[in-house]
This record gives sequence, C-alpha cells and structure tokens, in this order.
Amino acid sequence: MTKITITPSSSLTGNCSVPGDKSISHRAVMFGSIAEGETHIRNFLDGGDCRSTIDVMRGLGVQVDVVSPTELVVHGRGLDGLQEPANVLDCGNSGTTIRLLTGLLVGQQFATFLNGTAQIRRRPMGRIVRPLRGMGADIMGRQMGEYAPLGIRPSRLRGLEYTMPVASAQVKSCLLLAGLYAHGLTIVIEPGPARDHTERMLAAMGAPIAVYGNKITSERPQTPLKALDITVPGDISSAAFLLVAGAITPNSRITVTGVGTNPTRTGIVEALQAMGAAITFANEREEGGEPVADLVVTTSALRGTTFGGEQIVTMIDELPILAVAATQAEGRTVVRDAHELRVKETDRIATTVSELRKLGAKIEPTADGFIIDGPTPLVGAPVESHDDHRLAMAMTVAGLVARGQTEVYGAEVTADSFPGFEVTLQALGADLLVER
Ligand code: S3P
Repeated sequence: MTKITITPSSSLTGNCSVPGDKSISHRAVMFGSIAEGETHIRNFLDGGDCRSTIDVMRGLGVQVDVVSPTELVVHGRGLDGLQEPANVLDCGNSGTTIRLLTGLLVGQQFATFLNGTAQIRRRPMGRIVRPLRGMGADIMGRQMGEYAPLGIRPSRLRGLEYTMPVASAQVKSCLLLAGLYAHGLTIVIEPGPARDHTERMLAAMGAPIAVYGNKITSERPQTPLKALDITVPGDISSAAFLLVAGAITPNSRITVTGVGTNPTRTGIVEALQAMGAAITFANEREEGGEPVADLVVTTSALRGTTFGGEQIVTMIDELPILAVAATQAEGRTVVRDAHELRVKETDRIATTVSELRKLGAKIEPTADGFIIDGPTPLVGAPVESHDDHRLAMAMTVAGLVARGQTEVYGAEVTADSFPGFEVTLQALGADLLVER
C-alpha cells in the first residue's frame, strides 16, 4: 500500500503536463477495434482502467500493439469482426469499460460475460440494462440486471427513442454503440450536456451519428468505420488537481500544457473562476477534433459560491477537488443536484465529507451534494483513499495547505487516472514523501 506524506508548500511554480484523457483513451481503443484499418493512438492514458479496456478488446480477438506505454496501434476488425471470447471479460475497476462494452456487445452474434472488481459489482448497471432491453437486447445480471456480473446473448436489436433520467455519458455512449447494430434509428435525449467524446470520435470515423441539441441519433453504418490517428489531449480532470493546488498554495503560478478543453468538460474551470480563481487559457488549438489549450493558474483569493443544475455534469468528477478549494474560500459553498456522486468509485459525498473532516474542514453532506463553510485553516491528519483515485488526489492537494503533516493511505490508486501525479507535484515544488 502506498502512503503519501504531505508537508505544506510555500509555493508551486513551473510548467507541467498531465496524462492523456481517460474517457478519450477508452474510446480510442474500443472504437478503433470496430473500425477498419490501424488506429494509431498517442498520449494514451497508461492507467489501470484503460488497461482493462485493452485487455477486454484483446479478449474479443483484437490485436493491440503497445509501441510504448502511451502509444498504441489497434488493428481494427470492422463492425462485425469481433470474436467470441474464451473467458469472462474482466472490466477491472472501470465503469466506462463495462458500460460502453455492454452497448457494443449486445449486437454481436455470440454470447459474452462481463465482470469486474467488487467495487464495479456494486455500481448500478440497471441504467444501461433497462434501455438496452428496450432495444431487444438479451442481458441478465444480478438482481434482475441491476448489477454485474452481466451475461449477454445474441439478439436482434431495434432502434429506440430514449430519454435518459440522468445525464450520463456512459449510458449515452452505450446506447449509441448499440444503435450501430440496430435496425432503425436510435435516439438518445439527454437531460444535461454529458461529455460528447463518443459522438465526436464516432462521427470522425464516419459513423452515422447526428446531434440536434440534446438529441443524439445513431444507426447502422452503410460503410465501414475509418481508422484514425488520435493524439489524446491531456485530461482536464487530472489538470483540475493542479489548478486547485496552484490557486490555494501561496506564491504559486502553474502552467498545465496541452489540456483538453472540450466545453462538456470545462465546468471545473468555470466553477473555479466563479469562485475568483485566476485561470487563463493560452495557446488555444484543436487536435484530432477536440479543443486543447495551456491552462495557467496563479494563487487566488477564493469566495464561496453555489453550484447546481446543468453545470454539475460538466464537472462531476471534479467535485471532490472543488470541495478542497471551497475549504479555503471565504463564505459558503453549496453543491447541489449531484446525486450521481453517490454511485461513483465510492459514494463521493460520504467519502469527501469523512476525509476532509479529518483535516478540520467544515463540510456537511446533503442528499445531493455538500455545504462547505470557509476559509478553514486545515490541520494535517491521516486520511484514507477508500480505493478512489480522485479522493486520494484531492486529499493530497488538501495536505498542501494543512498545518503539520497529512498522510494519505492507499495512494497507489492515483495511477488509475493520473500516473505520475506525485512526481508532477514534486517537480512544481511540493513537499511529498511517497512510500510504497
Ligand atoms: C465517463 C462518464 C462519467 C464520468 C466517468 C467517465 C465517460 O460517468 O464520471 O469518470 O468516460 O463516459 P457517468 O456517465 O456515469 O456520469
């Protein structure tokens, strides 16, 4: 088990980058597998979750060459070229893998079984199983299909018009993938702007995906999907930890280069700016159909702010680190409409509250978020990752401003989404001791 011991920093300065975007890395491997030809992927996220996607696609007969940990070549087998796997497909700890893959597999001509870690088996699958059954899919799972393991039998799929009860990119992507194998049109209506990497990448491959406001349609392609050259932008969800670290640590100025700034993902930047954080975009450009920029943050006086509604889905993974920023903000911060936090890698309302309280934060849980009063001088203490990468990183950043020493136990999990997190902070001047 890895432990990070953090001693407060007097300043964080310098340029750094973050690993490739997790959502885009998963999609590049999965969609490349059903394209025709070789998909070259650069700046791939070499983290545990994305490795699970490589493993399951190999299990389905796809050749994936690892040129280097961050550079892959996926030998696409075409829409109907996947092969029956010899074993249960192990999705590890990755919600994106199991949910997107289920959408891809319900339209295949062979049966499959999907499983993952104990954490994955606790996460809700009914949100994909119900609409997929509405398309004619034959799926079973524990508790009437609510939880993995999942079993899928071949079936004839038909298009469906489906209004998602929650804004979820995983559910949306799952249904759009199933739509590629269905007779007729699949229409997904989303209640909020969930990340649109699936729509962008499938459309770039030539799939018949169309977006009309909050309605997205997919249908069976008439021509093969084209393989792509994909350079994955830096993950804004990882950059968020550095942005908050720079904003709350005295005398700081950090430039994070090459960060993906897709508008369905920049909610955290807008939220921190609304709190008074000095964050600017430089060198804005487009790479492989996704906007990219260098983000510059300097130490800022933050003020409490209320967040809710449609903005939440655009920063759902960043709410634990937003809570850390709120402990240092003047006044009250309220996060509401974030029920989804309860069904992430952990119940992130419960775990963020329990761990930040150990440092003395004034944070109250609510049914759908939390209320934080600040600024609070945090005091170092031992805290737990609960096997949740984003919680481990949020608590490490909190430790940068907590008097004395903060110890984050179970910190090996940071590598799920941000391998190199600790060395990146150390290079910026943070005082971290990492014991493995
Ligand atoms: C993801 C979608 C989000 C997000 C997760 C990645 C994706 O989940 O929290 O980290 O890649 O589609 P939901 O779809 O459950 O909101």
